[in-house]
Amino acid sequence: MSEKEVVEVSEAEIAVHWQEEGHRHPSARFIGQANMTDPGIYDRFSLEHFPECFKEYADLLTWYQYWHTTLDTSDAPCWKWFVGGKINACYNCVDRHLPAYKNKAAFIYVPEPEDEPHIALTYQELYVRVNEVATLLRDFAGLKTGDRVTLHMPMVPELPITMLACARLGVIHSEVYGGFSGRACGERIWDSGSRLLITIDGYYRSGNLLDHKEKADEAVAVAKKEGQTVDKVLVWRRHPGKYASATPMVQGRDYFMDEVLKGYAGKKVDPVSVPAEDPLFIMYTSGTTGRPKGCQHSTGGYLSYVAGTSKYIQDIHPKDVYWCLADIGWITGHSYIVYGPLALAATSVLYEGVPTYPDAGRPWRIAERLDVNIFHTAPTSIRMLRKAGPDEPKKYNYHFKHMTTVGEPIEPEVWKWYYQVVGKGEAVIVDTWWQTENGGFLCTTMPALHSMKPGSAGLGVPGIHPVIYDEEGNEIAKGAGKAGNICIQNPWPGAFQTIWGDRERYVAQYYAKYCKDQNSKDWRDWPYFAGDAAVQAADGYYRILGRVDDVINVAGHRLGTKEIESACLLVTEVAEAAVVPVVDELRGRVPEVYVALRPGYKADKKIEADVVKSIETAIGKIARPKHVYIVPDMPKTRSGKIMRRVLASLSNKGDVGDVTTLANPEVVEEIRKMVH
Ligand code: WT7
Repeated sequence: MSEKEVVEVSEAEIAVHWQEEGHRHPSARFIGQANMTDPGIYDRFSLEHFPECFKEYADLLTWYQYWHTTLDTSDAPCWKWFVGGKINACYNCVDRHLPAYKNKAAFIYVPEPEDEPHIALTYQELYVRVNEVATLLRDFAGLKTGDRVTLHMPMVPELPITMLACARLGVIHSEVYGGFSGRACGERIWDSGSRLLITIDGYYRSGNLLDHKEKADEAVAVAKKEGQTVDKVLVWRRHPGKYASATPMVQGRDYFMDEVLKGYAGKKVDPVSVPAEDPLFIMYTSGTTGRPKGCQHSTGGYLSYVAGTSKYIQDIHPKDVYWCLADIGWITGHSYIVYGPLALAATSVLYEGVPTYPDAGRPWRIAERLDVNIFHTAPTSIRMLRKAGPDEPKKYNYHFKHMTTVGEPIEPEVWKWYYQVVGKGEAVIVDTWWQTENGGFLCTTMPALHSMKPGSAGLGVPGIHPVIYDEEGNEIAKGAGKAGNICIQNPWPGAFQTIWGDRERYVAQYYAKYCKDQNSKDWRDWPYFAGDAAVQAADGYYRILGRVDDVINVAGHRLGTKEIESACLLVTEVAEAAVVPVVDELRGRVPEVYVALRPGYKADKKIEADVVKSIETAIGKIARPKHVYIVPDMPKTRSGKIMRRVLASLSNKGDVGDVTTLANPEVVEEIRKMVH
């Protein structure tokens, strides 16, 4: 087996091969009210009309100045959209809605403790609070356009308020998922070059008020060690005036936001008009090497794309109550809790906690009480809610018109429960395939135009032209039902601009594989390589099979196996580590760890526990492995490479295939006994 194959089989190989399912149709009632019912949209967005077609999305926004060049390819493959255009994202999400909607809720915040009241934040109130924070960031923290600031915050209204305040100033925010460890946050502070960290004292998770501020101290220390100094740490308080953390504030560095804000009551600051291609934010994601990648997203292109897809695919109207259960700390939350919905003057629900807290009826109680009619979540939550309360939705009187699934393939069984029980057979479902890098949806059905097929994402969205290539770059015939690497033929405005500070890696990772000519300035020569395996059925629908690289999709989010492995190697006794994805009933895939010890050490429970702890410290609880196996030796090729594929097969109780060419085939049997 060649080196290449060893790397490229991982997730796709263990993907479940489902049967072809029948189609379901959207109801006449849904179609009657939908934002997009014109099949002509696919002609308007055909390659023939590329790139000018995207004006249709950009025209959903208010521009200070119109662009002169829709797509500038002169620095291929770093695409520039709407060049010459000037815009402000905060203005588009807040100020411009005031005349018509100032009294309407922009966010409805639902705290996890059920006895804490909801907070409805109107567009007017949001406008006031964003202005106060923006003034503080400018005058107290000294931030100016183009600076980066790291946010490490959970699901509280202060998170989108802070993001929008940054956007108002043209300051680039980099929000790190609240569940990530202090160390993970510190590495991202360093990579982005942030001199300011904005965090919170604590937040609720499964009924506990977690100490979050302690992570800030570690983050600052880690960043410092890497050479990045943080001057100030701004600490929101979950209950203003009442510090919830046991971690002391550092004199001269740490400030309570609620206290400093008193000096900025009612202050206003004009939105800064920035060039369309100025970065709006950085969002880190995992890759095949240890170092996380900072996906740099633009202002004008990104906002156009999320506004367009929120309108036509999420079918958001200003009168809807829209609830996306994702965390704003991931791209889904940025695009489809904050920027997309707010650009459309929607009411977006923000839930602090765990969906199944205090019981599996919680989401449906929230939906009933707020009369939510659009619901957006990931297969992992759907599986969890189905397991914990398969009949709960029936007890509540809510009605969804539209539901979204995103983040990982959804099993047809789970899809059907979502459709019949959660959606009560009334709601359309869109299965949206996309990635942190993409800004917004790439493949899905258009809810009022297409039928749905359980387990399949659907077609390329308008203006996105997918193609499936084999390893050699030959196109796999359309509708052939054969697996290959799914790519996008053309750029689109939501696509990230580059990896922050690492253009070379950007080109190598996403474009080099199928690039026809590295010197070309023609976008046709630069298909985007997504890193997912997919098949296209005869009906044209794409089904995503999973990652083809060393990345594990855990509960709808990517974790790099290399990141996890390097955390294992920090444990003194560990000599070698290999991490593989194992199928999990609830979370889709989870990491499973194999380690071999240095000579002289014996396997024991403490080493296993230390490995788990090291992973949690380096990355966070989300990366916690299902098992840690201490093995006598790793299965290796004669050239000494660890055969992760063999370990993955063992973990998933699959066929390991022919292992006779390994350097140590006998160890495979030993490990099998241990695992089974
Ligand atoms: C990876 C991207 C941006 C969405 C949140 C995850 C997988 C995403 C689907 C889907 C099957 C999906 C892919 C992709 N994925 N959506 N509808 N069906 N797989 O963002 O952390 O950047 O992960 O998630 O493997 O590459 P992410």
